[in-house]
Amino acid sequence: MIRVTYLSQTSEPLSADGLLGLLTQCHRNNTAKGLTGMLLFGNGTFLQSIEGEAAVVDPLIERISKDPRHRDIKILRRDEIKERQYAEWSMGFERVTESTLAAIPSLRNFGLRNFTADYLSTHDDVVETLLDRHRAPHWDPLIRELDARDKLIKELRTELASSRNDVEMAALVLETVVEVATNGRLDEAHLEICRSTLGSLR
Ligand SMILES: Cc1cc2nc3c(=O)[nH]c(=O)nc-3n(C[C@H](O)[C@H](O)[C@H](O)COP(=O)(O)O)c2cc1C
Repeated sequence: MIRVTYLSQTSEPLSADGLLGLLTQCHRNNTAKGLTGMLLFGNGTFLQSIEGEAAVVDPLIERISKDPRHRDIKILRRDEIKERQYAEWSMGFERVTESTLAAIPSLRNFGLRNFTADYLSTHDDVVETLLDRHRAPHWDPLIRELDARDKLIKELRTELASSRNDVEMAALVLETVVEVATNGRLDEAHLEICRSTLGSLR
């Protein structure tokens, strides 16, 4: 798999309807092609990351660069990847505004006026900060809390399944001991199973 990140500028001011049309197209096409990614848009500038199989992503980037809705495409990175960073989004979206930027503490002197292809193409750290907010753990405190709960529930589930299994094993060992003791054949092997079961319960 690969991930391609690029910058571009709208050819003409993009209406909300135009933007929605573009995103709907991304969602439809990317879902069908197993692509995921993130699109940031503000100040007439697009910052997009697309990830998926190279055989699908590369031709798409070719097509996107010929799209008349934008121009001056600058590819920032094309990386071979093992894991997706935006696995939950066929194309996640954030409209970049003064107030979204003001809420990012590490971008203190960065305003919407800086959200341009020229500035971003020479400031990798800003690009990383902007995109990183959409990877786990999420920047939104509520989503972070939900993710933390999800994680806790998964851990509790594993613990519960494992203790259910321990109980199941202990019951079987007890049954065996009762059965064997009744027949008078309790030997060292049985005692060893008892010890190891006890060990896993402690
Ligand atoms: C900024 C921008 C981002 C785009 N991102 C995607 C995308 O992620 N996936 C996609 O299929 N098309 C994307 N497109 C649209 C493509 O350029 C192209 O219109 C589309 O893939 C054509 O496919 P269709 O006619 O089958 O919908 C994007 C266009 C622009 C201007």
